[in-house]
Amino acid sequence: MAEEQAPLRAPVGTKDVLWPESDRWMELVARFARRVRRAGYGLALTPLFEEARLFRRAVGEHNDVVGKEMYEFDDRGGRHMALRPEGTAPVVRAFVQHHPPVPWKAWYVTPAFRYERPQAGRYRQHHQLGVEALGTDDADLDVEVVALAAGFYDELGLRQVTLAVNSMGCAECRPAYVAALTEYLTSRRHDLCDEHKDRFERNPLRVLDCKRPACRQATAEAPRMVDFLDPQCASHFERVRGGLGALGIEHHLEPRLVRGLDYYTRTTFEFAATALDTAQNAVGGGGRYNGLAEAIGGGPTPGIGFGIGIERLLLACDAEGCFSPAASVPDAFVVDVTGGEMARDLAEELRRAGLAAERAYDGRSLKSQLKAADRSGAAVAVIVGPDEVAAGTVTLRGLRHQGAQEQVPRRVMVERVTAMAAEIHTPETHNPER
Ligand code: HAM
Repeated sequence: MAEEQAPLRAPVGTKDVLWPESDRWMELVARFARRVRRAGYGLALTPLFEEARLFRRAVGEHNDVVGKEMYEFDDRGGRHMALRPEGTAPVVRAFVQHHPPVPWKAWYVTPAFRYERPQAGRYRQHHQLGVEALGTDDADLDVEVVALAAGFYDELGLRQVTLAVNSMGCAECRPAYVAALTEYLTSRRHDLCDEHKDRFERNPLRVLDCKRPACRQATAEAPRMVDFLDPQCASHFERVRGGLGALGIEHHLEPRLVRGLDYYTRTTFEFAATALDTAQNAVGGGGRYNGLAEAIGGGPTPGIGFGIGIERLLLACDAEGCFSPAASVPDAFVVDVTGGEMARDLAEELRRAGLAAERAYDGRSLKSQLKAADRSGAAVAVIVGPDEVAAGTVTLRGLRHQGAQEQVPRRVMVERVTAMAAEIHTPETHNPER
């Protein structure tokens, strides 16, 4: 079929999220916002596109995310731009640009764009919930940040999530480790995957992150960064692990956890949902990036954060059968068989009073409107016929649990609907905080 005639669809590797699934997204974001707000994080909104050089400098070029997967383009003014492949660099760029007082703690919800090979749990546009905290290297902040993510998984009801941690050291102690790793990899060169066999010298840490069986096997016995940490990095890591232990956050050391972006220093961590049987089971990850602000032109400023992939998180919830908040339903559905003006006015009156109200359109029959009312899941039908109009009343019918019917003066409609809806709504719909 000629391209022009082919039906238009969402691009490969992207998904439309429509309701009721989008209600779940809203609830997820709202819960995350409440949780991080309680810990002092404010919402940061930054542009979806930035100068491409931001990501090259911040994330590095010798990784897939920037080196191979970035959506780049020249804008009409000839500037070289990129859609954000991740959320950290833009937030740190905003920090450097506006130099707010530290510690500066931000949270975000954002799409991220990576030209990857789509598969279950891997998309070209995915969405992340994240935090970034800048201005201190205090190990307790690392613990706080990890605890925020761990607590969030827990709140959603996820029980099969493991937490791996590692330390990447710093600019002082890492070179000795990289040299030892390079020597080791050189001796195992022929056992590495095709991609890394000839090209690991530029960034040997990437081999540790390679998921191909050959590299996994060859690096099982590789030197470990944790054995090369200088005393400051070692005691920082010890305090992080001690803090996680003190808060009852189970975790294990994963010496090969270097993560797929090049800005990390010291603490790195990753959460895996073991209920997902796909290769893509990382539901969140992050770490410290004490050199990042400087790399993009700011003063030396330590920082740490994480990103949680929303799509994968929801897949993990599905796999564990948790976090299925009730879809939002209206309090009232106005059924008007007098021509529609009453539905127009009453629906508006209910909405102004803060209630959720729906109605039918196009002068449909009583039967068809009642059917629509039922389908909407509304708690109460507000029915108006010629008798009600003449008497200045409305008829209220409970639509669930064999609801009763009563005719009440129009002026008490809001009060009665409020009371009936509160009685009928399940506690979960009414109080999503539990
Ligand atoms: P990341 O590990 O690249 O880290 O991504 C964070 C999370 O986003 C992953 O754990 C995963 O849940 C989700 N994710 C990543 N790529 C995809 C994809 N193609 N499809 C679906 N989900 C995906 C970062 O982006 C860092 N900025 C995190 C961070 C914040 N580090 C410090 N601060």
